Amino acid sequence: MTAFDVFQVKGDFPAIITSYKKIDYESLISLITTHRDVFHRLLLKHGALLFRGFPVASAAQFANFIENLKLGQFVNYIGGDSPRDKVEDKVYTSTEAPPALLIPLHQELSFMKKHPRHIYFFCEHPPAAQGETIIGDARRMYQAIHPEVRQRFEAKGLQYTSNYYYESKVMQYMNKMQRSHKSWTEVFETRDRHEVETRCLSNEFEWRWSHNDWLNITQTRPATISHPETAEKVWFNQAHLYDFNPRLLGWPRYVGAKLFYFRPWTRLHEIRHADGSKVARKDLYHILEVLQQETVATPWEKSDVMVLDNILAMHGRAPFKGSRRVLTALTS
Ligand SMILES: [Fe+2]
Repeated sequence: MTAFDVFQVKGDFPAIITSYKKIDYESLISLITTHRDVFHRLLLKHGALLFRGFPVASAAQFANFIENLKLGQFVNYIGGDSPRDKVEDKVYTSTEAPPALLIPLHQELSFMKKHPRHIYFFCEHPPAAQGETIIGDARRMYQAIHPEVRQRFEAKGLQYTSNYYYESKVMQYMNKMQRSHKSWTEVFETRDRHEVETRCLSNEFEWRWSHNDWLNITQTRPATISHPETAEKVWFNQAHLYDFNPRLLGWPRYVGAKLFYFRPWTRLHEIRHADGSKVARKDLYHILEVLQQETVATPWEKSDVMVLDNILAMHGRAPFKGSRRVLTALTS
């Protein structure tokens, strides 16, 4: 029996995988284990797989599904600064950023040397409308960026700067009103400074302890990379998320950020080219426009599991109203 006697594959991005007949969770895991090579090949071809109509019912079953797919070992979200909660070991809520905010496409932790190879999403509770985990093909993105911008970014690289607080009543109050900043104890999942420094070293971060125990991190990374298995060139950076501008945040949030966060040591993010020169805002606006053009939004259904090659496929989140619970995990 081949995988295609049981599973049906429809569409290109994402490739939607369903089964011809109803199967229980144990059978799903057994079939995934038997046919995992087929799914690995499909993932390299499409970049994004959406398993739909299967009885995945909890965070634990989601983690078990990932384990049996065996694309890699689980990794923590250490180094990431999107606000999210840990549900259980290795499983997190997807971003807790305000529902009205569009999170533009990006690859997870693409600003880090040790970035995860895969990202997974599980829809526990779909929103009534919108709130899709939007995706985009990073190979198409590479081609769609204006050649001049692409050449500039490839030649000059990128320097990311982040600032994280320690124990600040003001920041905690601000986060209560709207989750935006993480402390360095949350980003690194430790209170041990030596542990933080060890992680900085292994990721080639430069770090500096600054004003009131804030942590300043700088890292220099390329703007594009080649996929390690397929050798395809992809757009692979988060420059567009490191510049706080009205187009990214919307005017009210931008003005608020200007008022509260734009002191040198509390500026959450900054982006420059690796030589220290400014990244032109018109380039960043061009990138945001192309990302929007390349966005694919598939409405969530309960129990959907989405598997993304974190180099070939970008992800983000459409705005929504009401309740929504989507869990996420990473492997490398
Ligand atoms: Fe993300």
